[in-house]
Formats: sequence, C-alpha cells, structure tokens
Amino acid sequence: MNGTLGIIGSGTIGSAIARSAVIAGRHVVISNSRGPESLGALIAELGPLARAATPAEAAQAGDLVVAAIPLANYEQLPREPLAGTTVIDTMNYAPAMTGWARPELDTDELTSSELVQRFLSGSSVVKAFHDVNGRLLRELARPAGDPDRTALPITGDDPAAKAKVTKLIDDFGFDTVDVGSLVESWRIGPNTPLYYEAFVGAVPPGLSLPEIYAWLATTPLIPTPAATVAELAATTGRQPAGFQIRPSA
Ligand SMILES: NC(=O)c1ccc[n+]([C@@H]2O[C@H](COP(=O)([O-])OP(=O)(O)OC[C@H]3O[C@@H](n4cnc5c(N)ncnc54)[C@H](OP(=O)(O)O)[C@@H]3O)[C@@H](O)[C@H]2O)c1
Repeated sequence: MNGTLGIIGSGTIGSAIARSAVIAGRHVVISNSRGPESLGALIAELGPLARAATPAEAAQAGDLVVAAIPLANYEQLPREPLAGTTVIDTMNYAPAMTGWARPELDTDELTSSELVQRFLSGSSVVKAFHDVNGRLLRELARPAGDPDRTALPITGDDPAAKAKVTKLIDDFGFDTVDVGSLVESWRIGPNTPLYYEAFVGAVPPGLSLPEIYAWLATTPLIPTPAATVAELAATTGRQPAGFQIRPSA
C-alpha cells in the first residue's frame, strides 16, 4: 500500500493533486479553510481512497503533506501538526495578482520556499508541483521508462524528504529532476522556463489574462524529458521573484 497523502487546500491544484494521488492508489486526506463538510462533492468524485478532514488532521494523516493554499496564508498552515513531516510546497509568489507582497522575496533575500521552510521549522519543505496544473498532471503522465515521460523539477534541503517526493511523482507518472536546495528554487519559480513554459510552449503575444487561461486549457502539451529540465534549470538567469505576465503576452 502506498503512503497516505495529506493535502491542505482543495482548490485548483490541491484537488488536481488529489486526483492524481487516488489514480496512483494513494489514500488522500484533504482539507480546506471552510471545513470537511464543504468537501462532499470532491470526496464523492475522488472515491473511497479519499476523505475530508481539517487542516490539522490532514497534516497528521501521513508523512507527506501538500501545502496548496495561497502563499499569503502560509502562516496559517498548521505548524505544530506538520512537525516531523515532509511538506510539498506548491505555492507561488504573485504579488501583482494577489496584492500580497514580502520585501525579503522582492529583494531575493529569500525564495518563497525558504520563507515557508522558516515558518515550518520542524518540517522538511520540498518545492514541487508549483509549475504544473491538473491538465498537465493528467495528460503528460506516462509509465516509467516511456520515452515520452516528462520530468518535474523539485528543490529541497532534506535528501530523505526529496526521495519521498520523488517516489510520489514517479507514482503520478513523471520523472524528477533535483535542482538543489530551497535557495535554488528561483531556478524553477515564476518567470523561468520551467514555470509552465517548457511544458506548454510560449504564450502567444497579445492575449489578455482570460485568453491566456483559455489558450493554456487547449494548447498541445510538450513531453519534456529529464535532460531538458536539468538543462533549463541550470542555464536560466534569475528572474523577478513575483509572477509577471510577460510584456509580450
Ligand atoms: N491553480 C494552479 O493551477 C496552480 C498550480 C500550481 C501551483 N499553484 C499554487 O498553489 C496555491 C493554491 O493555488 P490554487 O489555484 O489551487 O488556489 P485556489 O483554487 O484558490 O484554492 C486555494 C485553497 O486553499 C484553501 N485555503 C486557503 N487558506 C487556507 C487555510 N488557511 N487553511 C486551509 N486551507 C486554506 C482554500 O480553502 P476554501 O476552498 O475553503 O476556500 C482553497 O481550497 C497557490 O499558491 C498557487 O500559486 C496553483
């Protein structure tokens, strides 16, 4: 039996990760801010491997927990229940879209995952799944050894925690590229080639934000092998920390 996955945040990416987890045969304990009673429809869709819980219960459901809430709320993560646990940080810094900004992120003093790791000082934070969406998880998943298998980049400071996340990503149908420690996570963060673009291609110029979302929902996805992901991570230059719609977009 695969390990149980706790998930905090049941929105777009939290529910997408839950879908991949139950397909992979994992038990899922998922939570949100409104309480377990609000999760009936999602649990019905996910089936018998899933149950709804509070964030504190999800934090203690297994030794691997996904944080899939707005980064602005990271200090609301249940810090004590998460102690001793590997926490997958899916959260992205996007002040222009959310209005929430932190000077130490804007000045590159810290990456957003280092900020989360500082708060979750008893946990091992691994950055992963911040650069994918549900469609990508569904459509680019391939069995191990498939020549078209895509690799997803991760960062983290704890090798044992990264090994657990690598196993989860393998179960989901992807290889993994270890890009280094959390201080290096800018290499895979917003505005870099590995933030969606490698997997979907460059956004056509001149689109509004709703048009970009529509394009993202339909454009053919690009299987991206580990060698390409490793090269993109190694060669990217440091970009502004907060997600920006490119001027050409
Ligand atoms: N959207 C994507 O495709 C995508 C992909 C990769 C990474 N991300 C990143 O992942 C994070 C979540 O994005 P999203 O698009 O999934 O957001 P979303 O659809 O708005 O969902 C956010 C979820 O977080 C929950 N939440 C908020 N504060 C919480 C708290 N204090 N405790 C427990 N749950 C809380 C919300 O609960 P309620 O449902 O009760 O409101 C909701 O379920 C963001 O940081 C984003 O940058 C998003």
